Amino acid sequence: MRLKAVFLLALGSVLLFAPAAFSQAGDGQFALSREGDAVAGQRAFAVCRACHNLTADQQPRVGPNLDNIFGRPAASSESFPRYSQALKASGIVWSEQNLDEWLAKPRTFLPGNKMTFPGIGDEQKRKDLIAYLREATVSAN
Ligand code: HEC
Repeated sequence: MRLKAVFLLALGSVLLFAPAAFSQAGDGQFALSREGDAVAGQRAFAVCRACHNLTADQQPRVGPNLDNIFGRPAASSESFPRYSQALKASGIVWSEQNLDEWLAKPRTFLPGNKMTFPGIGDEQKRKDLIAYLREATVSAN
């Protein structure tokens, strides 16, 4: 009787937790954008827009264009001539996770970079921004 209860308990927890583990493994690369609101993110992008365009066909501003940023190696926007040595040598390939860290505090994430921006402390705001960037940075160029 007691054994059966233990068995059912064990079975129950496997059934409860296994699906959660599987769903996270598959789409981890979208873990942050999935929790963000792209419409709020578009508003939050106003502070970035002063320095960044989102498509490859535009002239870069103070910072590089952010077209197709996810999955792209850092410092690889061809139209941007002023990347820092730090970013060029970083070996970073942009993902939602490292972009989140970069946006939280660029200076501590990568010392020596040239993005003069203090960072965004609000975690939800960063998720919103990342959700917006997922939509707005995909271009055919
Ligand atoms: C004052 C201007 C400025 C602001 C504001 C700014 N950036 Fe930047 N950003 C830069 C510069 C300059 C670089 C290049 C840094 C380097 O070479 O070290 C950069 C680099 C980047 C990169 C890396 C691009 C690449 O090609 O590897 C990303 C991603 C980025 N910024 C996103 C953002 C986002 C999102 C915001 C808004 C939250 C933002 N930036 C705000 C100037 C700015």
